[in-house]
Amino acid sequence: MGPGQAPGEGEESVRLLVDAMREFAIFTLDPMGRIASWNTGGAWIVGYERDEIVGRHFSVLYSPDEVATRTPSRVLQSVIETGKSDEEGWHVRKDGSLFWANLMIAAIRDDSGQLRGFGKVTRDLTERRKLEESLREKNAAMERALLAKDRFLATMSHELRTPLNAILGYTGTMLMRLPGPLNAEQEKQLRTVQLGARHLLSLINDLLDLAKINAGSIDLRREPVSIRAVVEEVVTTLRPFAASKGIELSADVPAGEPTIRTDRRALSQILLNLANNACKFTERGGVRIEAVADPIDGRVSAFQVKDSGIGIRAEDQARLFQPFVQVGREDGGDRNGSGLGLHLSQRLAELLGGRIEFSSDFGRGSCITLTLGGD
Ligand SMILES: Nc1ncnc2c1ncn2[C@@H]1O[C@H](COP(=O)(O)OP(=O)(O)OP(=O)(O)O)[C@@H](O)[C@H]1O
Ligand SMILES: [Mg+2]
Repeated sequence: MGPGQAPGEGEESVRLLVDAMREFAIFTLDPMGRIASWNTGGAWIVGYERDEIVGRHFSVLYSPDEVATRTPSRVLQSVIETGKSDEEGWHVRKDGSLFWANLMIAAIRDDSGQLRGFGKVTRDLTERRKLEESLREKNAAMERALLAKDRFLATMSHELRTPLNAILGYTGTMLMRLPGPLNAEQEKQLRTVQLGARHLLSLINDLLDLAKINAGSIDLRREPVSIRAVVEEVVTTLRPFAASKGIELSADVPAGEPTIRTDRRALSQILLNLANNACKFTERGGVRIEAVADPIDGRVSAFQVKDSGIGIRAEDQARLFQPFVQVGREDGGDRNGSGLGLHLSQRLAELLGGRIEFSSDFGRGSCITLTLGGD
């Protein structure tokens, strides 16, 4: 190394560096495409030792098919025209096996622009390609499985609902004593059957909705929806439940006939689940459903369901939107459910351009806000 020369810049150092790069076959070609230098990486990846390959045309790296269709000379021609080529393709090892490689070639020219040869860097990407292929296959298999699951759920839900409706229908008429009198024990048992069947039906309906959302086939139609009508429907549905627990259920809708542009069924499904949760997890006090009007234009774009129930710990809040997650079942009480309600409600809210958020004071109550997007 001469004086004033930085360490590692000499030609010898560069040769050593190139040789040390075993993951890359780095070599040069003369202007005719004959191999002029060859590094250890070349021996590792392609299999030829230096003295076996130097002097041979670089088309030995291509398959006979590609040589026949003149790929090697076309590659060189394009490098001469554009300066370099950076592609991926197959190369042939000394033993005849193929490997997938990143094939970079650059033209080497002297100061006068005269072509002196080519530099070529080749990296074996076979493993990466295999990995990518197997990932692609796994993804495709997963997608097929998910689709099959959703299709299965959709058919099964339908098949399950028919007999369930028969069970619910006949328990209903028996409880109304249409076929004849019932003694106290029969009535008690029939009520248990009815409760179980109702629970099963709502679970099946939730699963079917979720399958539809996942399959992208849920049908949401936005139209002006009467807020008062939806809120009253929810209150009417849940009043017997609230009454049976001795808690108050009330609603607050701004004066007049406020409407909101959204899907009616989805909105009432979300509110019903939020208010049902609120009643379920409240033992004292009450539950209130409020339609929140914008202070400036007076339009309603949000709903709040407030309760004075057990509350939700801050650390549990995000988790509750996952399917089948429930917390706080330890203290008894009526805690029927499968943990799908909030997940489904959040998915529906998102499809309607909105979201559901919690704010809760653990042990004192919760306030769940549903915001709906505009058009
Ligand atoms: N207002 C609330 N107060 C306290 N905990 C709540 C409230 N709302 C929801 N939770 C908690 O979130 C969990 C998930 O609610 P989600 O509606 O998803 O399921 P679920 O009501 O248990 O069952 P499902 O709605 O499927 O019948 C509940 O089990 C409960 O632990
Ligand atoms: Mg619920």
